[in-house]
Amino acid sequence: MSEKLEIKPLVEILHNTKRVAVLTGAGISAESGIPTFRGEEGLWKKYRAEELATPTAFGRDPQLVWEWYDWRRGIISPKEPNPGHKILARWEKVFPGVSLITQNIDGLHQKAGSENILELHGNIWKVRCIEEGTISENFETPLKNIPPSCPKCGALLRPHVVWFGESLDPAVLHNAFLLSSGCEVMFVIGTSAVVQPAASLPLSAAEAGAKVVEINIDPTPLTSYADFSFRGKAGEILPLIDDELKGMS
Ligand code: OAD
Repeated sequence: MSEKLEIKPLVEILHNTKRVAVLTGAGISAESGIPTFRGEEGLWKKYRAEELATPTAFGRDPQLVWEWYDWRRGIISPKEPNPGHKILARWEKVFPGVSLITQNIDGLHQKAGSENILELHGNIWKVRCIEEGTISENFETPLKNIPPSCPKCGALLRPHVVWFGESLDPAVLHNAFLLSSGCEVMFVIGTSAVVQPAASLPLSAAEAGAKVVEINIDPTPLTSYADFSFRGKAGEILPLIDDELKGMS
């Protein structure tokens, strides 16, 4: 199995590495039972993104958009982190130079114990007042009132997530590019690597001379740039790498 052959050389590189960046996508949460976006069972196959995950959709029918988010929150709420999330949380604790960037909004990295996370696309457990812009946590599932309103001013609350047609938080994106272009090794785990600007982060790492390590069950547009490409489930490949790391330390 080519993965086994590749793990030792990768771990040797990791031993001499101070700065590691990790970019995750929906694939890392797939083994926890959360649907990904693309592919046969993908969320965007069943639902039209532009009818649900856009500012226009929310302006037209906040009730419908919130019902969909309430349904997704109900799916995510009981789900637990898998070995992939847990190993990344462990790495953050034992290797000070590891930083985590995620496209996921499910909060499973936090549930696994990761603390410093750049959430590029927001978080489904946060709500934002459309008038005041204030952001707060909200874990109520199912929501009592749909659409929910701001307890302070009564305006509509919206999910604190990035919708199609919206820009990412510039500070978060700036930091993500700093971490990517400043790392020595970048892991890219469970992402189709087609959604910008997130998909450019590994390229900026590669351009700056970092080794790129992809973990994915399928090839992606990034595969040809990757120095190491592990074809398999994140929850199975990461433990193999972690065991080798423990064995060498
Ligand atoms: P996608 O659904 O596009 O891609 C998921 C990737 O995970 C695919 O490449 C799968 O092959 C891979 N995969 C599935 N199961 C896996 C497993 N167990 N281990 C490893 N890999 C696995 O999800 P993202 O790339 O995260 O944005 O999608 C990016 C963005 O598109 C999302 O953040 C979302 C969506 O539109 C917004 O909502 C703004």
